[in-house]
Amino acid sequence: MTSAVAVPSRAPAETIEQSRPAAASDRNQQSLLFALPKGRLAQDSLSFLEQAGLSIPTDTESRKLILPAADGSTGFVMAKPRDVPTYVEHGAADLGICGLDVVRETDRAVYEPLLLPFGHCRLSVAGPADEAAVPPGESGDFADLAVKPATYSSSPGTPLRYMSQPRIATEYPHLSRRFFAERGVNAEIIALGGSVELGPILGLADLIVDVVQTGTTLRMNGLVEIRTILESQAVLVVNRASYQLKAAEINRIIERMRLLTT
Ligand code: PRP
Repeated sequence: MTSAVAVPSRAPAETIEQSRPAAASDRNQQSLLFALPKGRLAQDSLSFLEQAGLSIPTDTESRKLILPAADGSTGFVMAKPRDVPTYVEHGAADLGICGLDVVRETDRAVYEPLLLPFGHCRLSVAGPADEAAVPPGESGDFADLAVKPATYSSSPGTPLRYMSQPRIATEYPHLSRRFFAERGVNAEIIALGGSVELGPILGLADLIVDVVQTGTTLRMNGLVEIRTILESQAVLVVNRASYQLKAAEINRIIERMRLLTT
C-alpha cells in the first residue's frame, strides 16, 4: 500500500531519515489511515467519528501530518478536501470523508458505502441579482436562459455571448462543463481556486457555479441562485483494495456509522 521513499544518492540516508519526521513509519503503525477534509467539514467529521465510537486524534491543530487516534488504532490525515478522494483512490489512505460534490467533480474510483448526515449543501448556478428575471428555484431547463435573453437578463447592451456562450467561473469545471453541455449550452468554463463570486463582480464571468450552504455569500455579493446542479452532503469513501483486504475493520467502522445515519 505504502510505496518506499527513494533516497537520493547524493545525500546520506541517515540525513534524509532525520529530516523526514517519522511520517512513513507512522503510516505503518496504524492498521487504517483515514483522510479527513480540512475546512468546513473538519469539525463535523471529527464529531461524527467520535459519536460513532471511534477514537479520534487529540490534537488536530498539530503540524504533524499523520495524527494517531487517541488509542493508537487509526491514523488520520487532515487533507485539502479535493485531495481526499485522490489519497483514497491510490490507497495512500484506506478511508476518507469528503463532500459528494468533490467526489463527483474529481471522479475518483472509490467506493461510497455511506452518505453521512452532515455537510448538506448544493452546487448551483448563480448570477447577478439585478439581471435575474426568474425567481430562484423556478423549474425549467437552463438552456432557456441561454437562448432567451429576456428570461434572465433585462440589461440593455448585454453582449450576445452572454446568452450564446456564457462564461462560467467555478471551482467545479468538470461538473459545470457537463451541466451546460447536456443542455446544449456552449459555456466557456473559467476554473478558479476559490472566491468565484468575484467572477461576475469583476466582469470575468457572467455566471458562477459554486457551493451554496446558507446562501449568505451569494446575498452578500449581489448574486442569486438560478439552478441547482447537485445536492451534496458528506460521504464516506473507501479504497477498493482496502475494502477487500481490511474488510473486518472497515465494515466495523461502516456499521458504527450507519447506526447514526438511520
Ligand atoms: C464556499 C463556497 C461559497 C460559500 C457558500 O466557500 O465556495 O463561497 O462557501 O457558503 P454559504 O452559502 O453558507 O455562504 P468556502 O468558504 O468553502 O471557501 P472558497 O470560496 O475558498 O471555496
